[in-house]
Amino acid sequence: MGKKAIAEAEHFGEVEVVASSKDKNFSYIPKQYTVPTDVDYFHITTNNTIFGSQIHTDIASPVPLVADMSSDILSRPLDVSKYALIYGGCQKNMGPAGVSFVIVREDVLGHVERRIPTMLDYRTHVEHSSLYNTPPVASIFTVREVLRWVKAEGGVSEMQQRAEARAKLLYDEIDRNTLFAGTVAAEDRSLMNACFVMSAGNESKEQAFLEFVTKRNMIGLQGHRSVGGFRASMYNALALESVQELVDCMKLFEEENI
Ligand SMILES: Cc1ncc(COP(=O)(O)O)c(C=O)c1O
Repeated sequence: MGKKAIAEAEHFGEVEVVASSKDKNFSYIPKQYTVPTDVDYFHITTNNTIFGSQIHTDIASPVPLVADMSSDILSRPLDVSKYALIYGGCQKNMGPAGVSFVIVREDVLGHVERRIPTMLDYRTHVEHSSLYNTPPVASIFTVREVLRWVKAEGGVSEMQQRAEARAKLLYDEIDRNTLFAGTVAAEDRSLMNACFVMSAGNESKEQAFLEFVTKRNMIGLQGHRSVGGFRASMYNALALESVQELVDCMKLFEEENI
């Protein structure tokens, strides 16, 4: 999704890519990079939904930091003061598709000289308390219910603990099971999207495993079409028991296939 952000930004100005893990098929989070101080902002995508890597902390930036948090918002406590702008689609951890969220620091608004269409100018929405147009009220109502649920369950710290528990359960099995292998550097593994493949020598069993889990009513485990392998998405709504079901399946598949 960082790639798409780069392509969009190129419509409006000069873009400098300061860090990418494209060299190793996006399997890690780059740590050695320098953000130029003469740029307007630094953009990051905190969770790579497709390849399954995640920036687990609020990183520092010498210029205003802009973050796409579509796929990991509400999964951990955030220091929002570190960001000039946080945005994303609500459809993973916050509610239904069709609603997007923007958390913007007011001092970063109003610095663009070119004319911006009214609807695309965040000031419009700030000035009208997000009611400039007729918004999708049923979807926004659902977001409110989800936010209330998160709060009632113990807030984002509780969501983080649950995410860590789910991820540990699955990654431990990926590492233990001789038929599977993780694709992302251990410290950068996403708590939201776990990507894995059949281990070396077992690649031909991929289809068989997909059929094995489908028979057990687990769907959507196929990796993104651009990556292959498997991807288990474990957003806030997913119960630990569901991850246990998948882990049990992996163990059983191993017993039957080695
Ligand atoms: C990190 C990230 N950014 C952006 C998007 C794009 O969201 P949308 O499909 O709502 O444009 C996604 C969707 O998967 C995503 O995971």
